[in-house]
Parts: sequence; C-alpha cells; structure tokens
Amino acid sequence: MVVLGIESSCDDSAAAVLRNGRLLASVVSSQDAVHGPYGGVVPELASRHHVRNVLPVVDAALVRAGVGLAEVDGIAATRGPGLVGSLLVGLTVAKGIALRAGLPLVGVNHLEGHLLAVNLDRAPDDPVPFPFVALLVSGGHTGLYLARAPGDYACLGRTRDDAVGEAFDKAAKLLGLGYPGGPVIDRLARTGDPAAIRFPRAHLKRGRFDSSFSGFKTALREYLAAHPATPEALPDVAASLQEALVDMLVDTTREALLATGAERLVVCGGVSANGRLRVRMGEACAALGVEVLFPRPALCTDNAAMIALAGLPRLAAGENDGLEVNAEADLPFGAAWTG
Ligand code: KG4
Ligand code: ZN
Repeated sequence: MVVLGIESSCDDSAAAVLRNGRLLASVVSSQDAVHGPYGGVVPELASRHHVRNVLPVVDAALVRAGVGLAEVDGIAATRGPGLVGSLLVGLTVAKGIALRAGLPLVGVNHLEGHLLAVNLDRAPDDPVPFPFVALLVSGGHTGLYLARAPGDYACLGRTRDDAVGEAFDKAAKLLGLGYPGGPVIDRLARTGDPAAIRFPRAHLKRGRFDSSFSGFKTALREYLAAHPATPEALPDVAASLQEALVDMLVDTTREALLATGAERLVVCGGVSANGRLRVRMGEACAALGVEVLFPRPALCTDNAAMIALAGLPRLAAGENDGLEVNAEADLPFGAAWTG
C-alpha cells in the first residue's frame, strides 16, 4: 500500500511517501527564514507560504520516491491541532488530489503523528510495543501520554501555559539569537557550564504530570536585565537555561514512568532533538530500568512521514474521511488518564 502524507500545521510544508510502512521519501520546506525576523511564527505569513509550497513539496516527494500519483493508494493529511489557516491549505490540497485521483483521504491528528514517528526508524512489523509513555515536546505542545494501543492514548499531563519549545524560542529571542531558538541554544550550550546560573524550576503540586514554563521566562528576563549576556557569557547562560528546562521535563517524566509502571518511553516533537535532553533522559531511564527511544532528529521536528504512518492503518482498513473532513485548531487528543 502506497500512502501520500501531507503536513502543514505550523510553519513547515511537508509531504512524504510510504510504501507498506517503509519511508520512500520525506520532503520538508522550512519557513524559518520567513519568520526569523519576527522571532516566532506569524500565522498569516505561514498560510501564504503554504499556498506557495505545498504542491511543489508534494511533487518533490513523489519524484524522490519514484512513485506516480496513479500508484498512490490513499492520502493522509494533518487536520489539527495547529494554526487553522496553515492546516486549511494542506488539507485543501489533499482534498483536491483525492478528488482528482479518486483516492481515499484520512485526516490525521498531528500529535498522534509525533507519537508514532519513532516507528519510521524500525521495520514495519516491529513497532515500539504498547504500552509506552510518550513525552511530546514541541513548539506548540508539551504533554505526557500513555499510549495503550493504536489510537488509544491517555493524557497524563500537559503544560499549563507555554510549550517547552516556545520557552526555548522566547529565550533565544531575549538573547538575540534568532528563530527557531532550540537548535541555537542546544549548540551554544555545548561549550557552557549548566551549573553556572541557577534558574528556577517550576514544580506543580496539583496535577503532578503537568508542567509550566511561563515563570522560567520571567526569571530569565529579570536575570538578563541585571546581567546583560555578553558574547563570552552566552554559552553559560544557554547551558544553564537549557538545564532548567531539561530538569523540569525529566522530573515530570520520571513521575509518570513510576506511576504507570511503563517499561518504555518515547520522546518526540521538535525539542526531542535536543542533545542534553537525550543524555539526561537516557540517564534517568537507565536508573529506572526503562527503555528510552527517540526518533532520528529529522523525524523529531514536523514532517509528513509521521502523518502518513499514523494514517496508514486507517487507510488499510478501508477508512475514508472524504471531502467533509475539516481543519481544527484545537483538535483534542487523549482523554485524561485516570490511573
Ligand atoms: O515539532 P516541531 O517542529 O513543531 C511543532 O509542532 O511545534 O517543533 C519545533 C520546536 C521549536 O520550538 C524549536 O525551537 C524546537 O522544536 N527545537 C529544539 C531543538 N530543535 C528544535 N529545541 C531544543 N533543542 C533542539 N535541538
Ligand atoms: Zn509538531
């Protein structure tokens, strides 16, 4: 079965082709240069660039996969959550292709895509076994889930305010490092001392798997007002702020692993590319006897391969959402975990 995936929930236009669950091609057109000057994604600009980029990206994925549209058996496109203007562009292109080629179309939850992305690096008959805990950390989302079976995900906790990727991006903006901030801070931090500055770590008493990153942002702003970050000081500031964010993620994840008794942890979403998070989560999981899995960095950030993979079982089962499927900015994901 050949699946064409289309993703446009935020600022990346992406398309991918899977054959029988194996990745043939994944193409991502980044808009970092468009949004960089603003220090964050400008929704209207993102929509307009998707209009320009989605079709060329679909063509490029088909060419790279060596697959003609006639060989495609179904389309999986992100229907939410995300920026509604951006979602509409990708989903409308998907509907147009489905209509023209007479193909079934399924709308995929972007968050399910991130949770399953790790399986793209494994043989199709050897996915990560359920149940597993998933820490999803990206620019728009921060949450802990218990994945019990395909399509059965319970939400253990989520951020009460900013996403952790947003915290990285806002920190980089305060430091004048450009957008997106995560990769720059990750790189700068490698030569810095993570214990140089002690930034506060928020620990929520109620909702023990929830997180909060807005206080961190205020603390960083106050610190920088008193200690302007000179080029010499930047690596220590980057390493220290990264350590505070990583500490918060490791602590809540450890709690969730202990409470659920899960034997596996999947860390996914753009921030899961972070080098320090990978090291620290690896150490915490080794101490707990838990296996930890990360997608390769290119599959941590937004891509359409994960969307195609999440849609595959539904297309294989004959599902078709048809042309009625709608984009939804706040598409829900995972009922609350009740223990
Ligand atoms: O998953 P993603 O591409 O888009 C969303 O669905 O939000 O995640 C993008 C986020 C951005 O906030 C970016 O700064 C962050 O992931 N990110 C990183 C790293 N690479 C990307 N954060 C920390 N360290 C990284 N190496
Ligand atoms: Zn994402």
